[in-house]
Amino acid sequence: MKIKKWDILFLVVAIGVVLFFSLAPEQTTPRVPLDDVHRELKDEKKCRDCHGAGTQMPLPEKHPNKERCLLCHKRKG
Ligand code: HEC
Ligand code: HEC
Repeated sequence: MKIKKWDILFLVVAIGVVLFFSLAPEQTTPRVPLDDVHRELKDEKKCRDCHGAGTQMPLPEKHPNKERCLLCHKRKG
């Protein structure tokens, strides 16, 4: 079989895609702890009572300040 230009191009692209995904950083979003406070909590409006500004565990300064907390913060376990 003759190797064509397109075969090589395909190979290069395929290797690039694999490299891209294997080098991508791991998911680092902190998970919601599985403790008494968070286990039963489904109402995302309540998160701010404890994680809003001036609370014991406020959001980091650069935190994406969105409403849907649980879209990013999956539960542990
Ligand atoms: C009653 C107060 C309270 C409420 C309500 C609350 N949290 Fe928390 N949360 C805490 C405290 C205190 C901690 C730290 C406890 C610990 O580290 O075990 C914490 C820890 C976390 C962490 C882990 C941070 C880390 O560094 O591991 C995440 C993520 C989190 N909360 C998200 C949420 C989300 C999302 C909600 C709403 C569904 C929520 N919390 C509602 C008090 C609360
Ligand atoms: C777009 C995705 C996204 C959404 C939506 C989101 N978060 Fe986060 N959150 C993150 C990421 C990423 C980090 C880690 C940031 C860092 O370490 O600088 C983080 C960090 C935190 C921390 C601090 C954990 C620690 O160890 O200090 C808390 C608490 C938290 N989020 C709570 C919430 C709450 C409450 C909401 C809803 C109001 C929310 N998050 C919505 C992505 C998100």
